Amino acid sequence: MTERKALVAGNWKMNGRLDEGSALARAIAERAREADACDLLVCPPATLLVPIGKALAGSGVALGGQDCHAAPSGAFTGSISAEMLRDAGCSHVIVGHSERRHGCGESDADVLAKAQAAWRAGLVAIVCVGETRAERERGTAIAVVTGQLAGSVPDGAAADNLVVAYEPVWAIGTGLTPTIADIAEMHAAIRRHIPAGTRILYGGSVNPKNAAEILALPEVDGALVGGASLKAEDFWAIAQAAR
Ligand code: PGA
Repeated sequence: MTERKALVAGNWKMNGRLDEGSALARAIAERAREADACDLLVCPPATLLVPIGKALAGSGVALGGQDCHAAPSGAFTGSISAEMLRDAGCSHVIVGHSERRHGCGESDADVLAKAQAAWRAGLVAIVCVGETRAERERGTAIAVVTGQLAGSVPDGAAADNLVVAYEPVWAIGTGLTPTIADIAEMHAAIRRHIPAGTRILYGGSVNPKNAAEILALPEVDGALVGGASLKAEDFWAIAQAAR
């Protein structure tokens, strides 16, 4: 079986200005330089990509975007292309986060086009999937998630260009998480639909208290962390739990 190194990714969302963002990145970089960790990735807001990239230089911590447009350039006011992310120093980009699927009306087809754009620019696409609370209560969570995978992961996916993040919509930013058994069941289901060796992250209210139990699951290859990634100690504690 292909070995899958754990990846812990911080999604800062629309948080962080130059001073505090740089201080947070420096604190993470310092720890990463001093101690062994799993693979680490920081996804700051676009305004901070270049300075955060500088703060992380030489630490081994990778830089990622939170979203990209499907086109390489053009008349798309306010949007950022995968090529621009690459130019700013990114190696990864999150696509299909639930805050974009549900908050901005992005469809599976939109997410698929963004993942293709990521690959065109040489980035790893972190494709997010996850059911709503109603879908889980109806017993359709696995069907919803595998449907999202079928619709939003392009042909050509491989372990080195794709990461899947399972993020139940109802667990994001709420302090709620699925049961360990439900996470294990979902990750095993996702595994059957993606190329061997592809990493599957769990995301949704991961914190230093619950990380060890979730990350110990054999099919969980790391975490996509929102709120807890804004504190260096918490992010680092989660990274240590993933080792
Ligand atoms: P959370 O966010 O850790 O704050 O729940 C996770 C995410 O949205 O990626």
